[in-house]
Amino acid sequence: MKLKVAPTSRETVLGEDDLIISKTDTTGKIIYANRTFMKISQLSEPELLGKQHNVIRHPDMPRGLFKMLWDDLQQGKESFAYVKNICKDGGFYWVLANITHDYDLNDKVTGYYSVRRKPSRASIETVTPIYRKMCEIEAQHSPKQALVHSVAYVQQILKDQQMRDYNDFICSLMKGDGYL
Ligand SMILES: Cc1cc2nc3c(=O)[nH]c(=O)nc-3n(C[C@H](O)[C@H](O)[C@H](O)COP(=O)(O)O)c2cc1C
Repeated sequence: MKLKVAPTSRETVLGEDDLIISKTDTTGKIIYANRTFMKISQLSEPELLGKQHNVIRHPDMPRGLFKMLWDDLQQGKESFAYVKNICKDGGFYWVLANITHDYDLNDKVTGYYSVRRKPSRASIETVTPIYRKMCEIEAQHSPKQALVHSVAYVQQILKDQQMRDYNDFICSLMKGDGYL
């Protein structure tokens, strides 16, 4: 269930110490959201719990990016991503998200955690044109082909920049952000 609100240009910039945290089950259903998440998204606990994170999906975010995120998780890898999310009033906020697995005592995956912090303006400016192009590519193809083509576009950028994978690319930006 996505928010039915027209996106606006009102940006909320995270504070240096803000951490937006959520926890999901294995299907991605939100089972915990911290106060900062509720405050910045303007969504209450009942509006978040039991929902998928697409409730805060911004239309400027390409589907291919989320495919790469879920592919990483399903391969047992943690995932890093710069994400633009929508607020209840249509405004937006950028985060640098780190998504990791939650395991039980038998090493079985029981869900996922996302910890999101403030990204630098430089990193946002680096990913924005990439996401814009991915959205353009996705709009030119059928839903199934859209993902193939937009992910291929990102893979080509990684190849050109001699990066191993998308996480490698994000880590290079995180170094610039002072996080690594
Ligand atoms: C732990 C976790 C955190 C996530 N955080 C976000 C998020 O902040 N914003 C978002 O749009 N999607 C997030 N996602 C991805 C969503 O599950 C979903 O793939 C995405 O919103 C696209 O949904 P849609 O294809 O149904 O539109 C997260 C997924 C997981 C597992």
